[in-house]
Amino acid sequence: MERTQLCIFPKELISMRQPFIKLISLLVALLGLSTALVVGVAFVLYLSFSGVQLPSLSEGPQDIPVEAVEIPVVKALVDPASVWKASDWSLMDKEPNAEELNYGKELVVNTAEYLGPKGKVKAMSNGMNCQNCHLQAGTAPFGNNYTAVAATYPKFRARSGTEEDIQKRINDCFERSLNGKPLARDSKEMNAMVAYINWVGKEVPKGEIPIGSGLYEVPLLDRAADPARGKLVYENQCASCHQTDGKGMAKPDGTGYLYPPLWGESSYNHGAGLYRLSRFAGYVKANMPLGATFEQPILSDEESWDLAAYVNSMERPKKDLSQDWPDISKKPMDHPFGPFSDSFTEEQHKYGPFKPIKAAKSSSK
Ligand code: HEC
Ligand code: HEC
Repeated sequence: MERTQLCIFPKELISMRQPFIKLISLLVALLGLSTALVVGVAFVLYLSFSGVQLPSLSEGPQDIPVEAVEIPVVKALVDPASVWKASDWSLMDKEPNAEELNYGKELVVNTAEYLGPKGKVKAMSNGMNCQNCHLQAGTAPFGNNYTAVAATYPKFRARSGTEEDIQKRINDCFERSLNGKPLARDSKEMNAMVAYINWVGKEVPKGEIPIGSGLYEVPLLDRAADPARGKLVYENQCASCHQTDGKGMAKPDGTGYLYPPLWGESSYNHGAGLYRLSRFAGYVKANMPLGATFEQPILSDEESWDLAAYVNSMERPKKDLSQDWPDISKKPMDHPFGPFSDSFTEEQHKYGPFKPIKAAKSSSK
């Protein structure tokens, strides 16, 4: 009996001791682990306070030697918060003349369908739409918008030497940018376009020209704009849509363009605003290639000027300009047709450098 008890005792003792030993070893392991952790953290802290450079995980890829690529810093052309925003088109439906306003907008967007070579109202223009150049129906910031038109017309314009109203200005674009005929001043179409353009600018105080109106002014280069350099940029960045021959891509049904022409017989004529290099450069800088905006421009200033030089050195329709600029001293620096009141050549008035022309102009004032 005693024996068995004796025998049992150590057995019990052992079975009681086993979990105890496990617990102890577990505690020891835990202690070891936490000590290591504390020491580790302390070490890292020490390193960071002592100024030793630690390799950072996020910097990893930069350690791999790569060829230095210059990533252009995309910078908005002006502070977006300062730019005037157009009213929402849906608000047009609340106006008493909603139908007329919507027709006016439709004519700006799909001009060719109504007034192009196969126009259902009248065939009187080249197949381009006003919106091709006045983006988002004339509301896009720096997209050649109509923001300031209601606030600044009628006004004296030196090109005609007369006071012009909005009707006259619209017909200027019909006869030059759309290389067509003028629209009757009292037509339903003219009234609708004028109403729409007035609606776009209705919140702008009389005489004011808000930031983001019209076109961006690209800083002048120190050299002449270069058609040869422009050709290279054109082939890389523009030809995919506007085509190598500049003729764009017509819609299959012939009612207009998918990609409008930049030169050739269906493009704007040499009396149009875009024929002036500064207008063209300003348009493309903030709007092309398609997708660029004033907030995310794609072309550099040089590329914009060189593209203007290339595109405007190609063949396009001509217009009788003999009545333009009756006071030749009012010709803009980049109007490329003499006679001029200064001594610079037609070549320099077309391609620049423009800084000397501008300087001569301001000193003669
Ligand atoms: C090929 C491009 C092009 C097309 C197409 C075009 N325009 Fe223009 N338009 C211009 C340019 C460039 C200006 C002058 C912008 C400047 O000098 O800042 C201008 C100016 C104007 C202005 C005066 C803007 C201002 O603030 O003084 C009005 C209004 C206008 N266009 C209406 C129209 C209408 C309506 C159509 C369609 C029938 C049209 N344009 C088609 C390029 C075009
Ligand atoms: C992805 C296609 C695409 C590319 C690339 C492109 N454009 Fe355009 N471009 C258009 C479209 C579409 C319009 C008309 C926009 C509208 O009607 O809303 C246009 C309009 C224009 C206009 C005014 C209308 C005209 O025909 O005169 C000019 C100027 C122009 N682009 C120049 C350029 C230049 C320069 C480049 C190269 C830097 C370029 N575009 C690249 C699609 C493109």
